[in-house]
Amino acid sequence: MKNTIKKSMKVSFEAIYGEGGEIQHYFAPGRVNLIGEHIDYNGGFVFPCALDFGTYATVRLRDDHQVSFATLNFDKKVTVELGHILYKEEDDWTNYPKGVIRTFLDLGISLKGFDVLYYGNIPNGSGLSSSASLEVLTAVMINDLFECHLDRVDLIKMSQKAENEFVGVNCGIMDQFAVGMGKADHAILLDCNTLKYEYVPLKLEGVKIIISNTNMRRGLADSKYNERRGECDKAVAELNKVLDIKYLCNLDSEIFENNKHLIEDQVVRNRAEHAVYENLRTLEAKDTLEKEDLLRFGDLMNQSHDSLRDLYEVTGDALDIMVKEARKIEGTIGSRMTGAGFGGCTVSLVKEEAVEQFIEEVGKHYETLTGRTPAFYVAGVGQGASKI
Ligand code: GLA
Repeated sequence: MKNTIKKSMKVSFEAIYGEGGEIQHYFAPGRVNLIGEHIDYNGGFVFPCALDFGTYATVRLRDDHQVSFATLNFDKKVTVELGHILYKEEDDWTNYPKGVIRTFLDLGISLKGFDVLYYGNIPNGSGLSSSASLEVLTAVMINDLFECHLDRVDLIKMSQKAENEFVGVNCGIMDQFAVGMGKADHAILLDCNTLKYEYVPLKLEGVKIIISNTNMRRGLADSKYNERRGECDKAVAELNKVLDIKYLCNLDSEIFENNKHLIEDQVVRNRAEHAVYENLRTLEAKDTLEKEDLLRFGDLMNQSHDSLRDLYEVTGDALDIMVKEARKIEGTIGSRMTGAGFGGCTVSLVKEEAVEQFIEEVGKHYETLTGRTPAFYVAGVGQGASKI
């Protein structure tokens, strides 16, 4: 698959930029989060894995200081000078790689120009981290092309910084980390407070990870996302009247229950309750996966979705209907929204023998109930970003 894409990228690259010179190829995956949602920015544990599809880059160095971006996904092409890397609304998707270039320049690293062609097969706005994939891909590519010798975790942090400060979306570290550090057939238990991580083998005997795309784009997601972050900060500030904590996920259930009255607003208290218990669910999910107790893992996934729906309020009709229909299939072990929410995808664990029925019935019912045609992917769990 990767080789076929590389070959056709080379042909398209030469059609756009001309032949000659040394061409190099890079790949970064998308990610799906199994559990641990909306807690990376609350200092919690998350449990994502990298997918086997993602974003490709084909690149060739130039002799000057000009960078040209093109993609097979959209018509928009942009050319910039390295001395003038600025955010521009009209530059659209290229603001992500531009933001990453900015982080290298900010470190005082001197770069030269290059022509790059991207291609991605992660559906945009689906909650599978197409933007983190593009960022980490660009960071890994630049690091290699210019022999910067930066650490992988530094590249991940720079990618997050590009999104936070250049693009202006206040995301946590989970997506960039999963895209940068993914390992085939493993999930990553990441402590977002310390960035310590552990690879956990995905022992899913006879069970598949099914990603169901609601095909509802995450409209308003960024403003709602920032609103949730603000509510969590408010909860911490109120708890700080008595408790010395930095993040909601520093709390265990007992301390939370004994102090939650300090949070005045019921809505804010609900947000905090989600964060505290989601963190505990994630830690338990890791243990149950190691013990191959997939039924309990599925229970925890279901609880996670219900908490995101009722307490954190980031699901919405499309995701709720998809999950409800998924749970009606007998072979479904667990089903929940994944990523930021408000649209995008769900992730379900489904017994192998029920996968076909799942796709057919959930697809049919979802379409009848929402008027939207969904898409389904049987997820393969792949490697993090690299040269290919
Ligand atoms: C988005 C963000 C992540 C994380 C998830 C929710 O994907 O980019 O940092 O907060 O939402 O878990």
